[in-house]
Amino acid sequence: MKVPLLDVNAQNLPLESELTAAFTNVLRSGQFIMGPECEALEKEIAGMVECKHGIGCSSGTDAILLALMALGIGPGDEVLVPTFTFFATAGCVARTGATPVFVDACPVCFNIDTGKAAAKVTSKTKAIIPVHLFGQSADMDAVMALAREHNLFVIEDGAQAIGAKYKGRPVGSIGHFGTYSFFPSKNLGGFGDGGFLVANDDALAEHARILRTHGSKPKYYHKFVGANFRLDPLQAALLRVKLRRYAEYTEKRQANAAYYTEKLRGLPGVVTADPAHCKCAASQDSWIEGSRAKLVLPAPYAHNEHIWNQYTLRVIGDGRRDALKKHLSDNHIGNEIYYPVTMDQQECFQYTNDFCRRDCDTAHRLAGEALSIPIYPELSKEQKDTVIAQIAAWLA
Ligand SMILES: Cc1ncc(COP(=O)(O)O)c(C=O)c1O
Repeated sequence: MKVPLLDVNAQNLPLESELTAAFTNVLRSGQFIMGPECEALEKEIAGMVECKHGIGCSSGTDAILLALMALGIGPGDEVLVPTFTFFATAGCVARTGATPVFVDACPVCFNIDTGKAAAKVTSKTKAIIPVHLFGQSADMDAVMALAREHNLFVIEDGAQAIGAKYKGRPVGSIGHFGTYSFFPSKNLGGFGDGGFLVANDDALAEHARILRTHGSKPKYYHKFVGANFRLDPLQAALLRVKLRRYAEYTEKRQANAAYYTEKLRGLPGVVTADPAHCKCAASQDSWIEGSRAKLVLPAPYAHNEHIWNQYTLRVIGDGRRDALKKHLSDNHIGNEIYYPVTMDQQECFQYTNDFCRRDCDTAHRLAGEALSIPIYPELSKEQKDTVIAQIAAWLA
């Protein structure tokens, strides 16, 4: 049985008549830039994530860039970013002319190591971008405490985590800005590119809105240099159809993750990540060597609501991750390495000095161990059992 990493048709085709009706409405309205569909989506998502302001954007990347621009980040500034993330987080910082300062990852939740972030604050540090990687919140109490201490702006990159919660609060609603992505592989997957920005501060949100349309207000009068970062009404109308089912999609992902964990943790050599080993103590990963673990399963913290954009294993031992990847691929099981190269290792960032790039050992290790397996909501029991059986066969 084939199990793809993601099957967008399994989610979208059952909605075909509703999606077609939404498309027809926009077609007949003749309104293809901004307008009621965009405004409705902005209200609905802002409500869902408990933010005062919602701003539809052209992509998750553009939402991050827009937030940085609205905060006035630019040349001479430093911005703390996790090194274990998708490129957009760091790339947007560089595009403003500021310097991305790379911070190591936590080996348990894969998110930014806040202890190491504190050690990289300088007089030039203006902001921190925690990423809620794979659908689980970063340690936001620690991030906000660091931000308060050093007067930093906080942009939460929630591209992979719309609807996830930290101590009961939706991610994105805690910092100055929160960003989301509607890239088709995201939990609220759109029909092309799309993104979203949220904020609670009236002035910051208004500034971001102005920058989203070339920095003009009123039209053709430019107090600021912005760009075109708008979300299309067609995209908004289609996303609204899926937003109505979003809670159900999340529950199914959570059930899939629980099923994998229950079945896989009984296999020899399989352990579950232990939050007691978070916080990156000096001996952070020594428990793995001691435990003879071959595979570490991801685990949500009790205070987090994880929405499982990815179910990411750590495959322990030299070359073992690539061996499991090959085994799964040979047996038609979709899988992906998120991410094989950390940001501090990227060729385009070698210009940043050693201070920015040093001390990212855990992330380097994770880049050699991480492997994500199918977790999308529509997976059947047979498909999940096939994935589990193939992992068991490889471990045996
Ligand atoms: C962590 C993270 N940040 C930012 C982005 C950028 O989102 P987009 O692809 O919508 O530009 C993505 C997704 O691709 C992501 O995973």
